[in-house]
Amino acid sequence: MVTTMKALTSVSLNSLFLAVVALAPQHARADAYSDYMASPSAAGAFQYLYQVATHPRCANCHGVVEDGIHRPTVGDQRIPHPMNITSLNNIRLIAQDGKFVMADNLQPVNCRSCHRDENGTEAGMPPGAANDLMPGFVWHMPPVTMVIEQDITPAELCNNWLDPAKNSFLAMRGGRSDMATFKKEFEHHVQDDPLVRWSWDPGLNRIPAPGSHQDFAQAMTLWIDGGAPCPAG
Ligand code: HEC
Ligand code: HEC
Repeated sequence: MVTTMKALTSVSLNSLFLAVVALAPQHARADAYSDYMASPSAAGAFQYLYQVATHPRCANCHGVVEDGIHRPTVGDQRIPHPMNITSLNNIRLIAQDGKFVMADNLQPVNCRSCHRDENGTEAGMPPGAANDLMPGFVWHMPPVTMVIEQDITPAELCNNWLDPAKNSFLAMRGGRSDMATFKKEFEHHVQDDPLVRWSWDPGLNRIPAPGSHQDFAQAMTLWIDGGAPCPAG
């Protein structure tokens, strides 16, 4: 009887949830996020991770390569960063005693000149991010191996993440051949990285990444625990 009640309750809660989702104004964005939330699976989790990673809030900083130049992009249309900012203006971080410090090859103008620890308070001002979980991990762009082009496919992104030659230059992040390290490093990265967290708190007039930071972190764990399957193709 109790079981039946539970089953009934969960069925009606599910239908309620679906009804609410259907009524919500953003329902036009029928997307990987809602699919994943409606029936979580490792494969579905990756589709949601892909949706987030290719969202402008994440992809703008990972940047694109145009005419051989790696540059960040801005806005929802991902236009080139104003003022001709490129990877030449990037700062380089090195890990020292568990903290990140800037290497001393700084350009006259670098990301940090404008992007500080907090979002600008007026529209059009540079965004910023920081937290105590990863001190010193200031605003900068990743190396070109982590570029997120407009047309990157789910399979490409998935394989890049699982390739230790591409998925970091700061720390050993593991990969398909070392899933224990991969799990530890990727879970830590998505959970604690201030730049990842920023994508759900992007400041005035910017649409946050889909879902929530917590949903994203949980999806990462579900995907990895399910064997980190990559889509075909
Ligand atoms: C402000 C810039 C910035 C933003 C915004 C940003 N990242 Fe990154 N991301 C970086 C940098 C820099 C690294 C490199 C860290 C390293 O090498 O250890 C990185 C590394 C990563 C990695 C490790 C492996 C790889 O191949 O990319 C993942 C995964 C990742 N980011 C995902 C995301 C996701 C998802 C978001 C949005 C929720 C996001 N990033 C937003 C700058 C950013
Ligand atoms: C001279 C100041 C300046 C420098 C240097 C600078 N930025 Fe920016 N950046 C800005 C401003 C201002 C904006 C806001 C533009 C807007 O919202 O229209 C911005 C926006 C961005 C965004 C867009 C966020 C979004 O999703 O729309 C990213 C990503 C970014 N910058 C990355 C970088 C990186 C990486 C560097 C260093 C390689 C850098 N910026 C250097 C001023 C600067």
